Amino acid sequence: MTEDQEQTQQAATAVLPKPQQRARHYLMCRPTHFDVCYSINPWMNPELATSNERAQLQWQALYDTLAGLGHRVEVLEPTPGLPDMVFAANGATVIDGKALVAKFRHPERDGESAAYLDWFDAHGYQSVQQAGCYNEGEGDLLYTGQVLLAGTGFRTDSASHAEAQKFFDVPVVSLRLVMPTFYHLDTALAVLNTEEIMYYPPAFSDESQQVLRELYPDAILASDDDATVFGLNAVSDGLNVVLPELATGLAGQLRERGYQPIGVDLTELLKAGGSSKCCVLELRQATLSA
Ligand code: ARG
Repeated sequence: MTEDQEQTQQAATAVLPKPQQRARHYLMCRPTHFDVCYSINPWMNPELATSNERAQLQWQALYDTLAGLGHRVEVLEPTPGLPDMVFAANGATVIDGKALVAKFRHPERDGESAAYLDWFDAHGYQSVQQAGCYNEGEGDLLYTGQVLLAGTGFRTDSASHAEAQKFFDVPVVSLRLVMPTFYHLDTALAVLNTEEIMYYPPAFSDESQQVLRELYPDAILASDDDATVFGLNAVSDGLNVVLPELATGLAGQLRERGYQPIGVDLTELLKAGGSSKCCVLELRQATLSA
Protein backbone atom coordinates (compact mmCIF):
# COMPACT_ATOMS: atom_id res chain seq x y z
CA MET A 1 0.00 0.00 0.00
CA THR A 2 1.33 3.47 -0.84
CA GLU A 3 1.33 6.19 1.81
CA ASP A 4 -1.58 7.89 0.04
CA GLN A 5 -3.66 4.72 -0.01
CA GLU A 6 -2.86 4.13 3.64
CA GLN A 7 -4.05 7.61 4.57
CA THR A 8 -7.24 7.19 2.54
CA GLN A 9 -7.91 3.88 4.23
CA GLN A 10 -7.29 5.34 7.70
CA ALA A 11 -9.58 8.28 6.95
CA ALA A 12 -12.28 5.93 5.68
CA THR A 13 -12.04 3.59 8.65
CA ALA A 14 -11.99 6.49 11.09
CA VAL A 15 -15.55 7.55 10.18
CA LEU A 16 -17.03 4.05 10.41
CA PRO A 17 -19.29 3.62 13.43
CA LYS A 18 -18.18 1.08 16.03
CA PRO A 19 -19.82 -2.34 15.51
CA GLN A 20 -22.87 -2.55 17.73
CA GLN A 21 -25.39 -5.33 18.18
CA ARG A 22 -29.06 -4.71 17.39
CA ALA A 23 -31.71 -7.27 18.35
CA ARG A 24 -33.04 -9.06 15.27
CA HIS A 25 -36.08 -11.09 14.34
CA TYR A 26 -35.40 -14.06 12.09
CA LEU A 27 -37.33 -16.77 10.29
CA MET A 28 -35.72 -20.18 9.73
CA CYS A 29 -36.96 -23.52 8.39
CA ARG A 30 -35.78 -26.92 9.69
CA PRO A 31 -34.05 -29.18 7.11
CA THR A 32 -36.49 -32.00 7.85
CA HIS A 33 -36.77 -32.88 4.15
CA PHE A 34 -33.28 -31.73 3.14
CA ASP A 35 -31.63 -33.68 0.33
CA VAL A 36 -29.72 -33.05 -2.88
CA CYS A 37 -31.85 -34.81 -5.47
CA TYR A 38 -31.58 -32.32 -8.35
CA SER A 39 -28.98 -29.81 -9.46
CA ILE A 40 -29.81 -26.13 -9.94
CA ASN A 41 -26.41 -24.68 -9.04
CA PRO A 42 -22.82 -25.91 -9.54
CA TRP A 43 -22.49 -27.09 -5.92
CA MET A 44 -25.30 -29.62 -6.17
CA ASN A 45 -24.35 -33.14 -7.19
CA PRO A 46 -27.20 -35.61 -6.61
CA GLU A 47 -24.72 -38.50 -6.97
CA LEU A 48 -22.91 -37.53 -3.76
CA ALA A 49 -24.21 -38.85 -0.46
CA THR A 50 -25.90 -36.37 1.86
CA SER A 51 -26.81 -36.91 5.47
CA ASN A 52 -30.13 -35.49 6.56
CA GLU A 53 -29.19 -36.18 10.17
CA ARG A 54 -25.98 -34.15 9.90
CA ALA A 55 -27.86 -31.34 8.17
CA GLN A 56 -30.33 -31.25 11.07
CA LEU A 57 -27.57 -31.12 13.69
CA GLN A 58 -25.72 -28.35 11.86
CA TRP A 59 -28.91 -26.37 11.38
CA GLN A 60 -29.79 -26.75 15.06
CA ALA A 61 -26.37 -25.40 16.05
CA LEU A 62 -26.98 -22.35 13.85
CA TYR A 63 -30.43 -21.85 15.38
CA ASP A 64 -28.98 -22.16 18.90
CA THR A 65 -26.22 -19.68 18.08
CA LEU A 66 -28.64 -17.00 16.87
CA ALA A 67 -31.11 -17.59 19.69
CA GLY A 68 -28.20 -17.64 22.16
CA LEU A 69 -27.20 -14.16 20.97
CA GLY A 70 -30.61 -12.99 22.15
CA HIS A 71 -32.38 -12.83 18.78
CA ARG A 72 -36.00 -13.83 18.27
CA VAL A 73 -36.03 -16.80 15.90
CA GLU A 74 -39.28 -18.08 14.40
CA VAL A 75 -39.55 -21.41 12.63
CA LEU A 76 -41.51 -22.09 9.48
CA GLU A 77 -43.04 -25.55 9.01
CA PRO A 78 -41.17 -27.37 6.20
CA THR A 79 -43.18 -28.85 3.33
CA PRO A 80 -42.45 -32.47 2.27
CA GLY A 81 -41.04 -32.72 -1.24
CA LEU A 82 -39.25 -29.35 -1.06
CA PRO A 83 -35.66 -30.30 -0.13
CA ASP A 84 -34.25 -26.74 -0.50
CA MET A 85 -36.79 -25.17 1.83
CA VAL A 86 -34.18 -24.96 4.59
CA PHE A 87 -32.80 -21.94 2.69
CA ALA A 88 -35.28 -19.52 4.22
CA ALA A 89 -33.39 -16.44 3.01
CA ASN A 90 -34.81 -17.13 -0.44
CA GLY A 91 -38.44 -17.08 0.64
CA ALA A 92 -38.97 -13.33 0.79
CA THR A 93 -37.57 -9.90 1.57
CA VAL A 94 -39.06 -8.11 4.56
CA ILE A 95 -38.52 -4.41 5.17
CA ASP A 96 -40.54 -2.16 7.42
CA GLY A 97 -43.11 -4.90 8.04
CA LYS A 98 -43.76 -5.37 4.30
CA ALA A 99 -43.09 -8.76 2.74
CA LEU A 100 -42.25 -9.31 -0.91
CA VAL A 101 -42.48 -13.08 -1.38
CA ALA A 102 -40.20 -14.93 -3.79
CA LYS A 103 -40.96 -16.10 -7.28
CA PHE A 104 -38.42 -18.88 -7.81
CA ARG A 105 -36.64 -19.31 -11.12
CA HIS A 106 -36.56 -23.11 -10.93
CA PRO A 107 -39.77 -25.16 -10.82
CA GLU A 108 -38.10 -27.41 -8.21
CA ARG A 109 -38.47 -24.57 -5.66
CA ASP A 110 -41.67 -23.02 -6.91
CA GLY A 111 -43.83 -24.63 -4.22
CA GLU A 112 -42.01 -22.79 -1.43
CA SER A 113 -43.64 -19.42 -2.13
CA ALA A 114 -47.08 -20.60 -0.93
CA ALA A 115 -45.67 -21.53 2.48
CA TYR A 116 -44.27 -18.00 2.90
CA LEU A 117 -47.47 -16.31 1.74
CA ASP A 118 -49.39 -18.39 4.29
CA TRP A 119 -46.90 -17.68 7.07
CA PHE A 120 -47.00 -13.90 6.59
CA ASP A 121 -50.80 -13.96 6.45
CA ALA A 122 -51.03 -16.06 9.60
CA HIS A 123 -48.65 -13.70 11.40
CA GLY A 124 -50.59 -10.54 10.73
CA TYR A 125 -48.45 -8.95 8.02
CA GLN A 126 -50.64 -6.35 6.29
CA SER A 127 -48.61 -5.75 3.20
CA VAL A 128 -47.72 -9.04 1.53
CA GLN A 129 -47.22 -9.56 -2.17
CA GLN A 130 -45.68 -12.24 -4.34
CA ALA A 131 -43.11 -10.88 -6.78
CA GLY A 132 -44.21 -10.73 -10.41
CA CYS A 133 -40.70 -11.24 -11.81
CA TYR A 134 -38.15 -13.86 -10.73
CA ASN A 135 -37.04 -12.81 -7.29
CA GLU A 136 -35.22 -15.10 -4.84
CA GLY A 137 -35.72 -12.98 -1.74
CA GLU A 138 -32.78 -12.19 0.50
CA GLY A 139 -30.66 -14.54 -1.55
CA ASP A 140 -30.35 -11.62 -3.97
CA LEU A 141 -31.81 -8.62 -2.13
CA LEU A 142 -29.75 -7.44 0.82
CA TYR A 143 -30.98 -4.42 2.74
CA THR A 144 -28.37 -2.35 4.54
CA GLY A 145 -30.87 -0.10 6.34
CA GLN A 146 -30.11 2.61 3.79
CA VAL A 147 -30.16 0.91 0.39
CA LEU A 148 -31.26 -2.39 -1.05
CA LEU A 149 -28.29 -4.09 -2.70
CA ALA A 150 -29.82 -6.19 -5.45
CA GLY A 151 -28.13 -9.02 -7.32
CA THR A 152 -28.96 -10.32 -10.76
CA GLY A 153 -27.30 -12.53 -13.36
CA PHE A 154 -28.40 -16.01 -12.36
CA ARG A 155 -31.65 -16.08 -10.39
CA THR A 156 -33.31 -12.74 -9.68
CA ASP A 157 -34.41 -10.76 -12.75
CA SER A 158 -33.12 -7.21 -13.03
CA ALA A 159 -36.74 -6.14 -13.64
CA SER A 160 -37.52 -7.30 -10.11
CA HIS A 161 -35.12 -4.69 -8.74
CA ALA A 162 -37.48 -1.97 -9.95
CA GLU A 163 -40.40 -3.94 -8.55
CA ALA A 164 -38.71 -4.11 -5.13
CA GLN A 165 -37.85 -0.41 -5.25
CA LYS A 166 -41.49 0.44 -5.82
CA PHE A 167 -42.84 -2.02 -3.25
CA PHE A 168 -40.50 -0.98 -0.44
CA ASP A 169 -39.89 2.61 -1.50
CA VAL A 170 -36.16 2.35 -0.77
CA PRO A 171 -33.19 3.12 -3.04
CA VAL A 172 -31.93 0.09 -4.95
CA VAL A 173 -28.40 -0.57 -6.20
CA SER A 174 -28.29 -3.23 -8.93
CA LEU A 175 -25.25 -5.51 -8.99
CA ARG A 176 -24.43 -8.09 -11.64
CA LEU A 177 -23.07 -11.50 -10.62
CA VAL A 178 -20.84 -13.26 -13.16
CA MET A 179 -19.50 -16.47 -11.54
CA PRO A 180 -21.91 -19.46 -11.54
CA THR A 181 -20.54 -20.71 -8.18
CA PHE A 182 -21.64 -17.39 -6.63
CA TYR A 183 -25.12 -17.42 -8.11
CA HIS A 184 -26.91 -15.50 -5.37
CA LEU A 185 -25.79 -12.12 -4.02
CA ASP A 186 -25.61 -13.51 -0.47
CA THR A 187 -22.89 -15.96 -1.56
CA ALA A 188 -20.62 -13.09 -2.63
CA LEU A 189 -21.51 -10.18 -0.33
CA ALA A 190 -22.57 -9.73 3.26
CA VAL A 191 -23.97 -6.65 4.97
CA LEU A 192 -22.23 -6.13 8.31
CA ASN A 193 -24.15 -3.01 9.39
CA THR A 194 -25.77 -0.02 7.70
CA GLU A 195 -22.45 1.26 6.38
CA GLU A 196 -20.13 -1.71 6.16
CA ILE A 197 -20.09 -4.71 3.88
CA MET A 198 -17.70 -7.50 2.90
CA TYR A 199 -17.58 -9.00 -0.58
CA TYR A 200 -15.68 -11.00 -3.17
CA PRO A 201 -14.87 -8.73 -6.14
CA PRO A 202 -14.35 -11.42 -8.86
CA ALA A 203 -17.97 -12.56 -8.41
CA PHE A 204 -19.15 -9.22 -9.87
CA SER A 205 -19.01 -7.64 -13.32
CA ASP A 206 -16.40 -4.88 -13.80
CA GLU A 207 -19.12 -2.21 -13.65
CA SER A 208 -20.55 -3.61 -10.42
CA GLN A 209 -17.08 -3.83 -8.87
CA GLN A 210 -16.68 -0.15 -9.68
CA VAL A 211 -20.04 0.66 -8.03
CA LEU A 212 -19.07 -1.30 -4.90
CA ARG A 213 -15.67 0.40 -4.70
CA GLU A 214 -17.31 3.80 -4.88
CA LEU A 215 -20.06 3.06 -2.37
CA TYR A 216 -17.92 1.07 0.05
CA PRO A 217 -14.26 2.13 -0.35
CA ASP A 218 -13.36 0.53 2.97
CA ALA A 219 -15.24 -2.75 2.56
CA ILE A 220 -13.64 -5.99 3.72
CA LEU A 221 -12.55 -7.95 0.63
CA ALA A 222 -12.64 -11.73 0.79
CA SER A 223 -9.83 -13.95 -0.50
CA ASP A 224 -10.52 -16.75 -3.01
CA ASP A 225 -10.18 -19.31 -0.22
CA ASP A 226 -12.66 -17.61 2.11
CA ALA A 227 -15.17 -16.97 -0.67
CA THR A 228 -14.96 -20.60 -1.82
CA VAL A 229 -16.00 -21.93 1.59
CA PHE A 230 -18.95 -19.48 1.46
CA GLY A 231 -17.42 -17.21 4.10
CA LEU A 232 -19.52 -14.34 2.76
CA ASN A 233 -22.72 -16.23 3.43
CA ALA A 234 -22.75 -14.61 6.85
CA VAL A 235 -25.41 -13.32 9.25
CA SER A 236 -24.46 -10.11 11.04
CA ASP A 237 -26.40 -8.51 13.88
CA GLY A 238 -24.18 -5.44 13.70
CA LEU A 239 -21.55 -6.92 16.01
CA ASN A 240 -21.66 -10.72 15.92
CA VAL A 241 -21.02 -12.23 12.51
CA VAL A 242 -22.05 -15.87 12.15
CA LEU A 243 -20.15 -17.39 9.24
CA PRO A 244 -18.73 -20.74 8.05
CA GLU A 245 -15.91 -21.72 10.39
CA LEU A 246 -13.57 -22.53 7.49
CA ALA A 247 -13.46 -18.84 6.54
CA THR A 248 -10.62 -18.15 8.94
CA GLY A 249 -9.14 -15.26 6.96
CA LEU A 250 -12.41 -13.34 7.01
CA ALA A 251 -12.82 -14.07 10.72
CA GLY A 252 -9.45 -12.37 11.32
CA GLN A 253 -10.36 -9.37 9.14
CA LEU A 254 -13.65 -9.02 11.01
CA ARG A 255 -11.93 -9.16 14.39
CA GLU A 256 -9.55 -6.38 13.32
CA ARG A 257 -12.58 -4.16 12.63
CA GLY A 258 -14.10 -4.83 16.04
CA TYR A 259 -16.63 -7.49 14.98
CA GLN A 260 -17.06 -10.80 16.77
CA PRO A 261 -16.90 -13.62 14.22
CA ILE A 262 -18.64 -16.85 15.24
CA GLY A 263 -17.73 -19.87 13.12
CA VAL A 264 -20.35 -22.54 12.39
CA ASP A 265 -20.13 -25.82 10.48
CA LEU A 266 -22.72 -26.05 7.72
CA THR A 267 -20.76 -28.23 5.32
CA GLU A 268 -23.71 -30.58 4.83
CA LEU A 269 -25.86 -27.72 3.55
CA LEU A 270 -22.99 -26.50 1.36
CA LYS A 271 -23.62 -29.64 -0.74
CA ALA A 272 -26.80 -27.86 -1.86
CA GLY A 273 -24.96 -24.56 -2.36
CA GLY A 274 -25.97 -22.85 0.85
CA SER A 275 -24.63 -21.91 4.27
CA SER A 276 -25.47 -19.75 7.29
CA LYS A 277 -27.07 -16.70 5.66
CA CYS A 278 -29.09 -18.84 3.25
CA CYS A 279 -30.84 -20.41 6.24
CA VAL A 280 -31.93 -17.11 7.76
CA LEU A 281 -34.53 -14.59 6.63
CA GLU A 282 -34.55 -11.30 8.52
CA LEU A 283 -37.97 -9.97 9.48
CA ARG A 284 -37.64 -6.20 9.70
CA GLN A 285 -40.61 -4.80 11.55
CA ALA A 286 -42.38 -1.59 10.73
CA THR A 287 -40.62 1.30 12.39
CA LEU A 288 -42.88 3.22 14.75
CA SER A 289 -43.01 6.85 13.85
CA ALA A 290 -42.40 9.16 16.77
N1 ARG B 1 -30.02 -25.29 -3.57
C1 ARG B 1 -30.50 -23.96 -3.35
C2 ARG B 1 -30.68 -23.25 -4.68
O1 ARG B 1 -29.90 -23.49 -5.57
C3 ARG B 1 -29.56 -23.21 -2.48
C4 ARG B 1 -30.04 -21.84 -2.10
C5 ARG B 1 -29.05 -21.07 -1.27
N2 ARG B 1 -29.62 -19.92 -0.73
C6 ARG B 1 -29.09 -18.69 -0.73
N3 ARG B 1 -29.70 -17.74 -0.09
N4 ARG B 1 -27.98 -18.42 -1.38
O2 ARG B 1 -31.59 -22.50 -4.88
